[in-house]
Amino acid sequence: MARVIEFGQGCDIPAARLRPTAAELRGLAYDAEVKASTDHLYADVKDFITPMEWPAVAPLVHHINKLKKAKNAVILAHNYMTPDVFRLVGDFRGDSLQLAREAARTDAKVIVQAGVHFMAETSKILSPDKTVLIPDLRAGCSLAASITGADVRLIRQRYPNLPIVTYVNTTADVKAECDITCTSSNATQVVEHIAAKWGVDTVIMVPDEFLARNTAANTDIKIIAWQGNCEVHVKFSGEDVRQIREAHPGAIVLAHPECPPDVLEEADFAGSTSALSSYVRESGARKVVLLTECSMSDNVAADNPGVEFVKPCNLCPHMKRISLENIYDALVGMKHEVTVPEDIRIRAKAAIDAMLALPKPKVFPKFKVGSGVTTPVELI
Ligand code: 13P
Ligand code: SF4
Repeated sequence: MARVIEFGQGCDIPAARLRPTAAELRGLAYDAEVKASTDHLYADVKDFITPMEWPAVAPLVHHINKLKKAKNAVILAHNYMTPDVFRLVGDFRGDSLQLAREAARTDAKVIVQAGVHFMAETSKILSPDKTVLIPDLRAGCSLAASITGADVRLIRQRYPNLPIVTYVNTTADVKAECDITCTSSNATQVVEHIAAKWGVDTVIMVPDEFLARNTAANTDIKIIAWQGNCEVHVKFSGEDVRQIREAHPGAIVLAHPECPPDVLEEADFAGSTSALSSYVRESGARKVVLLTECSMSDNVAADNPGVEFVKPCNLCPHMKRISLENIYDALVGMKHEVTVPEDIRIRAKAAIDAMLALPKPKVFPKFKVGSGVTTPVELI
């Protein structure tokens, strides 16, 4: 059946032009005050926002920055945020571990998490006296959704003598049942630490099977893994890398360790989002491919103007729920507040604190890449 266009004419371009912008819908105008406070920021996003679009963006940026001051708020922006959020309003930017450290350290009264729900929960767990806001409650994560606290209790019954490491990409409920958390920035360090502490040669890692497999390639500790995965990184394959190399000879291929091991077999470098970013900055590479979430390439590209980026694009639908509009709404309405029941918070905090107490490596840890890195792991 033909699609029925119910309103207006088929190509209603003049009406579309008249449609108010998100800023106008909120009563925010591009006036002299906004212009004066934001003109200098435009250069930082000129590759992503056209001059025509800027008057629609600048009022939101100006008023978010004013609200932050008025409410003593900080915005913690993950590397996967779009460049407008990341570069124009983010006060602290980084990978999951860096944002968790910042949440524990900040003096601000309010934390707005420009990231996903488990990150906001981590902030609340570490800073219970602060108000933690997430601009969209639907900003979830396929990894966090893949396991529950009850699942971990069953794992504990089955393997009572083995420590359980959880990736931070989990709910507070799951963290509360585990012995220590890890991120892609310290997975090997955490696994080796907890195995030594328990005097065992095997640890359980939940919920990311690929992170577990990629970690197993970097240590002699045996790993038993849960079969969750990241819906963004699972889409990359070793075959993709071979095709990219053929199409872009000489390009350096960087991969996040949430990718399947066959991707790391073909990659030149693997590490956390901030490790990838630092590699681009410091390696002198001229042409790079980032096998991770799309916005990451945009943010790293903006910081490295001489580097050419090939962008195989996989968007995280959860990260992309966070926008300037809903950050503004979050600060105006002080929503959506993230809370964690105190008994769960205390136990989850113990697992996060165990990770944060480990020495901070001087350089971002990297994962082994190249042929033969695929290591067998037992699956739960
Ligand atoms: P990192 O920033 O810790 O590398 O994690 C990536 C990620 O997918 C977070 O959701
Ligand atoms: Fe979760 Fe993957 Fe999105 Fe990160 S990129 S939030 S791991 S779904």
